[in-house]
Amino acid sequence: MPHNTLIRHVHAATMLPGSDYGLLRDAALLIRDGRIAWLGRETELPAGLGDCEEVDGEGGWLTPGLIDCHTHLVYGGDRSHEFEMRLNGASYEEIARAGGGIRSTVAATRAASEVELFTASLRRLDGMLREGVTTVEIKSGYGLDLETERKMLRVARQLGEARAVRVRTSYLAAHALPPEYQGRADDYIDACIDWLAVLAGEGLVDAVDAFCERIGFSREQVERLFKAAKGLGLPVKLHAEQLSDSGGAKLTAKYGGLSADHLEWLDEKAIAAMAESGTVAALLPIAFYCLRETKVPPIAALRQAGVAMAVSTDCNPGTAPSSSPLLALNMACTLFGLTPSEALTGMTRYAAKALGLLEETGTLAVGKRADVALWRIARPAELCYWLGGEPLWQRWHEGRMVLPSAH
Ligand code: NIG
Ligand code: FE
Repeated sequence: MPHNTLIRHVHAATMLPGSDYGLLRDAALLIRDGRIAWLGRETELPAGLGDCEEVDGEGGWLTPGLIDCHTHLVYGGDRSHEFEMRLNGASYEEIARAGGGIRSTVAATRAASEVELFTASLRRLDGMLREGVTTVEIKSGYGLDLETERKMLRVARQLGEARAVRVRTSYLAAHALPPEYQGRADDYIDACIDWLAVLAGEGLVDAVDAFCERIGFSREQVERLFKAAKGLGLPVKLHAEQLSDSGGAKLTAKYGGLSADHLEWLDEKAIAAMAESGTVAALLPIAFYCLRETKVPPIAALRQAGVAMAVSTDCNPGTAPSSSPLLALNMACTLFGLTPSEALTGMTRYAAKALGLLEETGTLAVGKRADVALWRIARPAELCYWLGGEPLWQRWHEGRMVLPSAH
């Protein structure tokens, strides 16, 4: 039986291009069969909409469901001891070179059963859903062997089945060099390419990611992986220019990548290449904050070049121990100088673009999936202004309503 819902007495931040937030005041929105069937001024509601359940929004605000386009949500263990080490003077790079960092999470993730991994990850996912997320990207990259990369990706898929949320997976085996490949990074990339074919064949991979960095992989190594991804028809994205300028963003643009992420050390030429290829700049201010970085991504130049900027949590145990998209919105404004409208666009429309999902979600528009968040706020900027809080009232994923307390 078709399920129709009419949300009335709301204001809408449609996030459509053309004006800040794509504002539509005194609005109503009709959901039919999981899609947005009508959106406009309440006074212009057409007659004869048929039977529908009515929701009184009591003057609250509708936005597209939030989209967290870069997370490492599935992992075992925690890294609070490294937080302590960093505050005692060790740097992120030093800890990584000493075998800690990503590799310590790899050990914990390998040791965890699929059920343990699922349970720990679900708690983090629920935190995001309570803040209005309806789409989340989840990476592998703490397995670094076929079996554990598969386990992580399977858990990511299971999370999407357990909750009303769309999950997009990214294969990130080229995240760090596992101990068994010490000194053999090129051989490891060969293995990553072999495993990619296997896991893609199992339907577990939506995109391919890597860590291009002094403590990660070189541009040449990443390029080999990208070629393999392209051969399988998979889109690419990259952790690029986080700790140094390694030329990763330019490479991503060359392969028509969906997004290049972090970008603190991005240079002008790479910005031009990203603008040309339509590659999204995914900004991760929580990682910037936690690493106490001082070099801010070149926001003004990205803005000027017309590069779409997404904002994401980067939820991970090392550099961004947070599952709060609202915190990321605040930090994108406070630390990086995005306007609240830019930040919210970065977690809706441009985050959808960063996942190749703009046809489906990311704005409130007729025909799109009904991924909608209803907030108890007085104006959209509040989502960036308040640090966290609990502003979500209700959330719909593909038309299915979920109360925050139901997660
Ligand atoms: O996005 N930089 C590489 N990857 C993650 C951190 C992973 C970790 O430290 O566990 C990031 O910051
Ligand atoms: Fe990351």
